[in-house]
Amino acid sequence: MTILTLETTCDETAAAVVTDRLEVLSSVVASQDDLHRRFGGVVPEIASRAHVQRILPVIDEALRKAGLKLADLDAVAVANTPGLAGSLLVGLVAAKALCVAGEIPLVAVNHLQAHIYACRLASRQEVFPCVGLIVSGGHTSLYRCGGPLEFELLGSTIDDAAGEAFDKVAGMLGLPYPGGPSIERAARRGNPKAFRFPRALLRDEERLDFSFSGLKTAVRYGVARLLGQKGTVPFSLRGNRDSPQATSQKGTVPFSLRENWDSPQVTSQVADLAASFQEAVVDCLVGKAFAALRQTGLPTLCVGGGVAANARLRQRLAEQADRQGIRLHVAPIGLCTDNAVMGAIAAERLRAGLIEDLDLDVYPGMVRKPA
Ligand code: KG4
Ligand code: ZN
Repeated sequence: MTILTLETTCDETAAAVVTDRLEVLSSVVASQDDLHRRFGGVVPEIASRAHVQRILPVIDEALRKAGLKLADLDAVAVANTPGLAGSLLVGLVAAKALCVAGEIPLVAVNHLQAHIYACRLASRQEVFPCVGLIVSGGHTSLYRCGGPLEFELLGSTIDDAAGEAFDKVAGMLGLPYPGGPSIERAARRGNPKAFRFPRALLRDEERLDFSFSGLKTAVRYGVARLLGQKGTVPFSLRGNRDSPQATSQKGTVPFSLRENWDSPQVTSQVADLAASFQEAVVDCLVGKAFAALRQTGLPTLCVGGGVAANARLRQRLAEQADRQGIRLHVAPIGLCTDNAVMGAIAAERLRAGLIEDLDLDVYPGMVRKPA
């Protein structure tokens, strides 16, 4: 069975052709990083407009690379939850149109389940049941995954997602968007113990939630100290002097990190801030993931999502898994950030007879754990 999978939940327009035996015939990802860079984060309206422009060329290229035509497909799968409403709609409408034209079934994909399924795909072995840690720009959640389609929420962030914190802190440090890779790069030269940043909720072994907003504020104060503004936090530290925010606040921003980028002192302190921030995030992610393993008694941990590409996180997870005899599967780097290959989870839904009607809707929000 050959399935075309579409992914437009956030700011990547992606299509892949996969088989129900989990072979990947093609994969195309059109990133929108360039469009969102100047805003330091994803702008939903820009994202959905860009999806409209890119979705058909991306589908064409995926089919061409697989050497197939629409008539060769057995199903079309699309991620319809969670994500940005306008972005999700573009993928869903394209998928429906292809299903009508090709008279083939429509399959719905849960984007978070797909992030964990990337581990199943890459390892080519059974990974369920497992604890699933999804750590991306929009989500930081732990699940008990009884099977590929059976997710029970154990805990999640109560404020920012980890990737969102990486992006915002990078902005404060004058590092380019997306923040994850640029913080990781800067952190390589830094001392992770230089700044003592908070690890919120980490000592509460029972609670499997995360919180990164306090950490973000602590970095902001760290930057303020670096700029010699004891006791005050400048409004914008971005160094983006063209932004309306920076212009209107000119009087309160004496100079930015970016302007002083060449100063060796600033460069080394930025590296220390980046390394200390990254270590705090990694401590929380590793700590809570292993608390979830202890609580559930499950022997396997699967990790997916953009932040799972982080080398320090991967290293710390591997060390801890080794020490505690846990089977660890982290998605390969190429399948951490959003892609359509992980939509191969659609094969599981097809096997379970889960085919959608053409009135299928998008579900942008995440289901939160009841209080
Ligand atoms: O999974 P993803 O592509 O999109 C969402 O579903 O949100 O994740 C994107 C996020 C961004 O916040 C980006 O900064 C972060 O993943 N990221 C990283 C790394 N590469 C991407 N964070 C830390 N270290 C990285 N190497
Ligand atoms: Zn994602």
